[in-house]
Amino acid sequence: MWKIQLFKLNFDEREAQAAYDTVASGWLTMGERTTAFESAFGTMLGGGTHCISVANCTAALHMALLALDVGPGDEVIIPALTFVANANTVAMVGATPVLADCDSLDDWNVSAATIEAKITPRTKAVMVVHYAGYPCDMPAISKLCRERGVRLIEDVAHAPGAVIAGQSCGTWGDIGCFSFFSNKNLSIGEGGMVSTSSEELLQRLRHLRSHGMNSLTLDRHKGRAISYDVITPGLNYRMDEVRSAVGLVQLEKLAAGNERRGELTAAYRRRLAGTNVAIPFSSPPAGSHSVYHILPSLLPVHADRKAVIEALKAKGIQSSIHYPAFWGFTAFQSRFSPADAPIVADICERELTLPLYPTMSDDDVDAVCDALSEAVR
Ligand SMILES: Cc1ncc(COP(=O)(O)O)c(C=O)c1O
Repeated sequence: MWKIQLFKLNFDEREAQAAYDTVASGWLTMGERTTAFESAFGTMLGGGTHCISVANCTAALHMALLALDVGPGDEVIIPALTFVANANTVAMVGATPVLADCDSLDDWNVSAATIEAKITPRTKAVMVVHYAGYPCDMPAISKLCRERGVRLIEDVAHAPGAVIAGQSCGTWGDIGCFSFFSNKNLSIGEGGMVSTSSEELLQRLRHLRSHGMNSLTLDRHKGRAISYDVITPGLNYRMDEVRSAVGLVQLEKLAAGNERRGELTAAYRRRLAGTNVAIPFSSPPAGSHSVYHILPSLLPVHADRKAVIEALKAKGIQSSIHYPAFWGFTAFQSRFSPADAPIVADICERELTLPLYPTMSDDDVDAVCDALSEAVR
């Protein structure tokens, strides 16, 4: 249907072989491939970070809130411009999500100032998102959270491999939460990772992931344990071996894929410079390295976004919106309003996401930019 899709998997025979070998091994539930994936991911993040893999990023966020004892009566500051998983997980633990605006019409991330404006005596935690792969100003945000005694969760769904001030995104806060959903920079289908440098949190997260049990099925299979104790109530948010094996292959491709995304983003910026379509994050904080998860653009104020989407579609080009405003969702319309985050309210009306994936060609970028320029003219 599409000549140029929004996203395409960067898969080849290596992912297929890894999945085949795992099935042939006869061991499917969390085991040695999962441990290897966790350890390789922790090495990629650096700084002695511990990682445990989970079913998806939503599970990771849920576990992070539970591990930090966030619950009824607490407020959690989240970005107004993000996927609904952040608001959902905060609501699911009985806490109140509070929206922080983005920094400006160019920097779509939350900042220390926009977070600070929403801190109250009930604020228990802040959840930041490195939107589109561009790191938030983590030195300033982590300093603010430390000074105000607020816990910090990083949602790194868009940003595996991103760095700011020499430190990986996902290692600045108490807990980092990654997504390996199909369209992510590291794609598995469904999957996620939790990172922390705290031994105590690591233990709590391990228990939350697997029913609070102190031994795994693999331990019993290997004869290392006969039974198990349940240390604390927990969930089943485990990863499995097939997905871990595919994840290991994808991790090897991550750096090159991120680099190619950067080249394509630079080509988009060159092609759209001087038009009335803006690409945000034109001057990210010094020392920050994006991983270019998506290509967000901002249409001119009076553009008819639906008509632009249809015009692109007529040329076989897929586009999307990141993100629809929370206050437009049935479940959240009584909790939030555009007044909570005026800059995000404007962005949500005008944002259009263009195709971006590592196997995209420069000619594809030209075709998208030609079609978009014509559509907004
Ligand atoms: C910013 C953000 N957070 C969380 C999630 C949820 O990830 P998952 O689908 O792995 O649960 C996503 C998924 O798209 C996301 O973009």
